[in-house]
Parts: sequence; structure tokens; C-alpha cells
Amino acid sequence: MAGGIVWLTGLSGAGKSTLATEVGRQLAGRCRLEVLDGDEIRLYLSQGLGFSREDRDINVHRIAYVARLLAKQDVLVLAAVISPYAATRAAIAKLSATAGHPFVEVFVNAPLETVAGRDVKGLYKKAQAGEIANFTGVSDPYEAPTAPAVEVRTDRESLAESAGKIVEKLVSLGLV
Ligand code: ADX
Repeated sequence: MAGGIVWLTGLSGAGKSTLATEVGRQLAGRCRLEVLDGDEIRLYLSQGLGFSREDRDINVHRIAYVARLLAKQDVLVLAAVISPYAATRAAIAKLSATAGHPFVEVFVNAPLETVAGRDVKGLYKKAQAGEIANFTGVSDPYEAPTAPAVEVRTDRESLAESAGKIVEKLVSLGLV
């Protein structure tokens, strides 16, 4: 099976990482798969980068670069990254296409009220109190995809359901 890049974009706490893990679980044994998670990448590969537009773009391009290397080795890559800027996502989609790898944009959608209400990492509370600057959705933009290949609503769908929609799409595209 040839590789490809599944790009999960959405607000912090929307469920991107959880979904990537669940899709990986559902596809276990069916293809070579790797998850590139924004939080983890920022711990290692992108340590020191902040959250200005410039730094986010560098981060997103780094992750997309690693994703292309993996896709070249026939790995299905699931990238879970906020990637808030539409133009940057379009740029990495184009780079992926140029390299000959399918790029599947997945919008992991949940309303701000929901993710801020969940506030798993306690960051929304801090952002709303003005303790974290440039926080996506609060004091920094999130440009939602206008034509994603898949949109999941993690506030209304179960994890299995949302992951299932992604898997179905990958099957229909012949990626798994
Ligand atoms: S991206 O904007 O560069 O694509 P990325 O997905 O790597 O973001 O990292 C987002 C994670 O960093 C969030 O899930 C959150 O845990 C943490 N974080 C810390 N500060 C911010 C901020 N200002 N905006 C968004 N996320 C932040």
C-alpha cells in the first residue's frame, strides 16, 4: 500500500490526537502507520518555537516535511496539528501533491465553547484570563477548512464514529 498524509486540523482540545490514535487502532495490521502529534513534535523537533504566525508556520512545515519522508516510505501518516492558517495548509497540501503523496485534510470540528468547557490541559482558562497570549480560538485566529475531505464533529459523534468516518474515507481513496 502506498503512503499518504492525513492532516487533522482543529482547535486545541478538539480531539485530534485522540482521533489519530483511534484511527491507528482501527487500522492496526492493515498498513504501516505513524502519528505525528503537535504536542510531541513541539517537545522534540520544534522545541523553542512559539505561537506567532511565523513559528506556527515553521512548525507545520517541519511536520509536513517529516510526513513526506515517511509517506515516501509507504507509511500512512496521521498528523494531528492545530495548523490554524488555511494558506499554510494549502501550501503543504501542494508540496505533498508535488511529491506524489495523497493529502487528506480532516477538519476535527468542535465548537470553542465545547473545547474551552472541556479544557483538558487547563489552557483555555489561562488564555481567557489573559495569561497565555496568542491562544488559538481565544486571542489568535483559527481558519477553519472550507472544503475538507472529511469533517468530524467530536462534540456530537462518538470517538469510534468519527474515526470510522476517517477510515471509510481512506478506504474509498484506496489508501488502506
Ligand atoms: S500549531 O499552531 O503550531 O499548529 P500545535 O498543534 O503544534 O500548534 O500545538 C498546539 C498545542 O500547543 C496545543 O494543543 C496546546 O497544548 C499548546 N499551546 C500552548 N500555547 C498555545 C497557544 N498560544 N495556542 C495554541 N496552542 C498552544
